[in-house]
Amino acid sequence: MNVESIRGDFPILQRTVNGKPLVYLDSGATAQKPECGIEAVNRLHREQNANIHRGVHQLSAEATELYEQARERVRTFIGAASREEVIFTAGATASINTIAYAWSERFLHEGDNIIISEMEHHSNIVPWQAVAERRGAEIRVLPFDEEGRLMTEQLDTLLDERTRMVAVTQASNTLGTRPDLRPIIEKAHAVGAHVMVDGCQGVVHGGVDVVALDCDFYAFSGHKLYGPTGIGVLYGKRELLDQMPPFLYGGDMVDRVSFEKTTYAPLPLKYEAGTSNYIGAIGLGEAVEYLRGFDLHEVEEHEMSLMRYAEEQLRRIDGLRIYGSTKDKCSIISFNVEGVHHYDLGMILDKLGIAIRTGQHCAEPVMTHFGITGMCRASIAMYNTREEIDALCRGVERAVRMLR
Ligand code: ALA
Repeated sequence: MNVESIRGDFPILQRTVNGKPLVYLDSGATAQKPECGIEAVNRLHREQNANIHRGVHQLSAEATELYEQARERVRTFIGAASREEVIFTAGATASINTIAYAWSERFLHEGDNIIISEMEHHSNIVPWQAVAERRGAEIRVLPFDEEGRLMTEQLDTLLDERTRMVAVTQASNTLGTRPDLRPIIEKAHAVGAHVMVDGCQGVVHGGVDVVALDCDFYAFSGHKLYGPTGIGVLYGKRELLDQMPPFLYGGDMVDRVSFEKTTYAPLPLKYEAGTSNYIGAIGLGEAVEYLRGFDLHEVEEHEMSLMRYAEEQLRRIDGLRIYGSTKDKCSIISFNVEGVHHYDLGMILDKLGIAIRTGQHCAEPVMTHFGITGMCRASIAMYNTREEIDALCRGVERAVRMLR
């Protein structure tokens, strides 16, 4: 894996920030885009733009073909069994909301319960709370320990015959923890519950095989996978999606419409009402192809070695605490330094051209767990280098000296 050559594929990495070379360590919030993805979107706008699934004319046919090719690329990438199970949405949040609403209409009843892990992003918490409230269901929380390990053994006491859904992340956006999903899914299935996996941070670090995992639903956003914003993927097992009602209603998701009765289109269009973000989908398909040009294990090993190197150096800083220290965590490092506010640290790093995320990271329960108001987070992607990690660690040391 040639990191310098990879960096050449991402034009934004050439820019400076505050007169310093950009050190981009916020890919967990959104990843940068390779030239091929940017170009695919531009080309489409310039040469092939037309609404999909709607026209008999040449441009519409070309755009439709590219859109369906993008679906096939995503299907192959996540290992789904059929194209019907791959639905394009506006992002992971839209994917989870779609499932929460449509699934709960069919499968959730008063007195049922939903289990959510304590380390979830808000987007895999709040939709479930909303539907649970509407249907009179209970929310149960699967906790994590001080190392950031999900206490899967507690599932045995949380799960019962009224559990309908387990919502869990493939990789925590704050702790980097990658829970062992197989036993969670097996236990959930043993009581007849379904499992929704938030793949936002996981899919980009090592990918996924949804069939091998046997999850019922899986969601991720395109922009964290080097694709455009405003596009995401919802995977669902066909037999479940077929039993659920649509979520959004309108054009493209219908079969026949009359004032007396409307029937709906089969999957995947049943969940793609309105004009889809076909340009985003095609851009995502391009990003997926770009990523498939690499050995994902090699990419992951590169990211992990940078993470280990960064953690080793950061731990030398007096009063610095890293949150999340499980063995198989992904390349996310969240930390705080005693006596230093995370925002101040982030602002000083920005002056040095270093981009990290600060705050609650849309995971307030994780902050509550540690009794803090926020944290700093450096998230490492395929294009990061050892020199950038050095810059981060020197920057943190310098900021801490100034702020203390
Ligand atoms: N969910 C994104 C993050 O973790 C925005 O930063």
